Amino acid sequence: TQALRLGIAGLGTVGVGVVKIVRRHADLLQARTGRPIVITAVSARDAAKDRGVNLSDYVWETDPVALAKRDDIDVFVELMGGENGPAKASVEAALASGKDVVTANKALLAIHGQDLAEQAEATGRVIRFEAAVAGGIPVIKSLTEGLAGNEITRVMGVMNGTCNYILTRMQSQELGYNALFEECAQLGYLEADPNLDVGGIDAAHKLALLSSIAFGTKPNFDGIQIEGIQHISLDDIHQAADMGYRIKLLGVAQRSARGLEQRMQPCLVPSASALGQLEGGTNMVVIEGDAVDQVVLRGPGAGEGPTASAVMGDVCDLARGLQISTFGRPATSLQEATPAITGLP
Ligand code: NAP
Ligand code: HSE
Repeated sequence: TQALRLGIAGLGTVGVGVVKIVRRHADLLQARTGRPIVITAVSARDAAKDRGVNLSDYVWETDPVALAKRDDIDVFVELMGGENGPAKASVEAALASGKDVVTANKALLAIHGQDLAEQAEATGRVIRFEAAVAGGIPVIKSLTEGLAGNEITRVMGVMNGTCNYILTRMQSQELGYNALFEECAQLGYLEADPNLDVGGIDAAHKLALLSSIAFGTKPNFDGIQIEGIQHISLDDIHQAADMGYRIKLLGVAQRSARGLEQRMQPCLVPSASALGQLEGGTNMVVIEGDAVDQVVLRGPGAGEGPTASAVMGDVCDLARGLQISTFGRPATSLQEATPAITGLP
């Protein structure tokens, strides 16, 4: 059987996690997909850095665009990050040269996803991005496959591990911002620019992707009302706790008579509720559909293993020949409107 050959650009937290899974689970992956999954070539900035994994079997490409164009790869795995720059250039190059793409890059897709999806469609390729939303939780697969028989009415949840970690540790340990930041860095949660995390922007990128999939619209990042957690103080957290609430950075996208409403902002949720009890880097995504009612997905939203797990789910689908385009339905234009949240789980 022909192997599925990967080219991986980006060997940081997620890229190294993917290399580890491909090496550790070679037999399992072959048994599950019916063909070997191998890494042909890799790329990162610093060729001399010790990454704690053996890379000597792979071709080293200094330029990720050159990696994306290589004839000896079938799938380009983009794990560098960034809304533009080498991530965008290399994904475009991969599609143009007939490669499928797997990425964890929500910033790239929330802004350029529609254009890239159209480019992929024109070349008969697909872009898969399970890891871009809620880390290890297979939320995109749930929406596009398991819940395909539903009209989705609302998606909401906690989608940034860093913010949830900071908010819960402020609550339980009374630790200050700086110490918590350092812990998030150690855990591999942080974006290259952590302002994207605490500013609510990273979570909003994810919400834009989720609502696009759920409602069949173009990703509309600019239509999201965004507020981060930078201004939440220990006093705010104590006062909320005194009234029986916790503060969570909550994203909501829902249909209403007024159109599609999207917002990402700190909210009070009852302390005893499932959302209120969500600790650390854990994410929770709630999906509501006309047939299923409500489904709650909970799991690790960031970090090496969970994110690499989601990347590999996409890679395995491609190895099995599943060429499903995730953005799916043609774009419709639901009007934006001022949101009102009720019925939190
Ligand atoms: P990271 O640890 O900062 O790693 C980024 C990697 O990209 C590094 O290996 C870096 O090379 C490489 N890189 C950066 N610019 C490059 C360039 N111009 N040319 C070649 N290589 C370049 O990032 P990460 O946490 O793994 O995140 C990667 C992607 O996954 C991002 O899109 C992020 O949003 C997404 N994501 C991350 C998580 C998570 O928990 N960390 C979860 C979900 C999604 P050097 O190592 O040589 O500097
Ligand atoms: N920085 C992101 C987070 C990584 O903290 O959730 C996962 O997307």
